[in-house]
Amino acid sequence: MWKDEGILTEREAVELCSFVFIAGHDTTTILIANAFRMLSEHPGLLARIRGNEEDAGRFVEELARYRGTVQRASRITTEEVTVSGVTLPKGAVVRLLNAAANRDPGKFADPDTFDIDRTTDGHFGFGAGVHSCAGAPLARMETIATTLQLARKLTSITLDPDRPIDYVRGNNLTNSGPARMYVRVEARHG
Ligand code: HEM
Repeated sequence: MWKDEGILTEREAVELCSFVFIAGHDTTTILIANAFRMLSEHPGLLARIRGNEEDAGRFVEELARYRGTVQRASRITTEEVTVSGVTLPKGAVVRLLNAAANRDPGKFADPDTFDIDRTTDGHFGFGAGVHSCAGAPLARMETIATTLQLARKLTSITLDPDRPIDYVRGNNLTNSGPARMYVRVEARHG
């Protein structure tokens, strides 16, 4: 726990450093793997992004909404609270399903369609509130840079039909997505 005076113990500092290392690792690799997947499912996007590089940002926001890494987050209530008519006692563990919220039809029209032209404001791909992702600017930068390189260098990305995606298992959906994915790429010439 945090000390009242706001100074970390050595153990807290070590745990915080380990957490930041982990928080920025498979979150990013999974989102980038999902970028390959969405570019394969929407073959026109490589050329579109090559022609208008600002679209890489739109692509990454929709990617974080539609096929984000963090499927679930947890909280413990600090006081009794009523949400949508359900009263939760103080100290209750609450599982927040970010991935489901990102497909909420009340918030996003036609939520199961991947559409980089939609408004993605308020998606939960990087969480929300005081505990939203501390590394979101870096994560966005990395994923946009990768997307731009793919658009500049490739004409097509296809998933290997003989080797299905092998999904991450066993972490209760916190970070979920491809653990192993086989792709075929065609390079641009000239
Ligand atoms: C694509 C990559 C990433 C995704 C999808 C992602 C997503 C998220 C999400 C959804 C949360 C909120 C979790 C919650 O509500 O409990 C979060 C928290 C956090 N992320 Fe990321 N993240 C990514 C990359 C990174 C990177 C690169 C770093 C650090 C360099 C980082 C550091 C953190 C930290 C420290 C928190 C906890 C913030 C807090 O509890 O106050 N993340 N991330």
